[in-house]
Amino acid sequence: MHDPRILVGAETGDDAGVFALHDGLALVQTVDVITPVVDDPYQFGQVAASNALSDIYAMGAVPLTALNLAAFPRDDVPLGALRAILQGAHDKVREAGAVILGGHTLNDPELKFGLSVTGTCDPRAYLSNSGARPGDLLVLTKPIGTGILIGAYRRGWLDEDSTHLLVRNMAALNDIAGRTAVSRGARAATDITGFGLAGHACELASRSAVAIRMWFEAIPMYHAALSFIERGTETIITSENQRHVAGSIRVAGDISATEEMLLYDPQTSGGLLVSLAPDEARVYVEELQSAGVEDAAIVGEVVEAGEPYLDVTRS
Ligand code: CO
Ligand code: CO
Repeated sequence: MHDPRILVGAETGDDAGVFALHDGLALVQTVDVITPVVDDPYQFGQVAASNALSDIYAMGAVPLTALNLAAFPRDDVPLGALRAILQGAHDKVREAGAVILGGHTLNDPELKFGLSVTGTCDPRAYLSNSGARPGDLLVLTKPIGTGILIGAYRRGWLDEDSTHLLVRNMAALNDIAGRTAVSRGARAATDITGFGLAGHACELASRSAVAIRMWFEAIPMYHAALSFIERGTETIITSENQRHVAGSIRVAGDISATEEMLLYDPQTSGGLLVSLAPDEARVYVEELQSAGVEDAAIVGEVVEAGEPYLDVTRS
């Protein structure tokens, strides 16, 4: 039997669960754990925390508390690295206005770190992935291509400036993007993570029973990503993501196979994809840009349901 306190449960593929506490207040809960994306442990802690907090922001909620989850190879990695990861996460959670209440560390041959985050929202005003309506415009708030750039970093191909920019973007909170989405009356939102832009856009379209048209030229992206794809930074996840949406996406013939790969690139701590009424979408982008979310852009529109879920044209 369905428990009426569960406003958003596991079955909708949403970013976080929502549980009604009492009139006017609901709990929002999520957990996310990742493997290291950069060598610097402090930076990794920051990115992992921002990535975990993002699911709270994607629901239009406010984070309150977090618990660390660390899988740590005790014999191979110095304890100082774990301390630096925890410090990075601590500082990022604090920047978000939340606190870390504790956590758990276990011995594991592969280093992993993440957080379980709890926030709150108004049970009548959270953002799920199911409210997009035909006529809405879609806004993406961070560039895509982080998976490819992390691959390039691992191979030693990424210069210092690009590495700095990548880490800065991944560590950046989606707080302003989430908060402003709520104040602009956004109808649906999700964050772009492991399934890539195409995967998360198809999910939003399917859950909202609409279709999406996206304009490739409008999508914020790391332009170096294209040359790295050509040099071979694709991962197994990229092709899995492509297979996953193969029946749901149409990509125009003048978009090259290399360019198309960007749509399937798994993102770490990616931006929000937000569906808003057209006038609100324009104001939303202006507000984000003047608040320092410079890459925010209108990337597509919502249309009536039909085949395919996601239609990508060049412009
Ligand atoms: Co998410
Ligand atoms: Co997640």
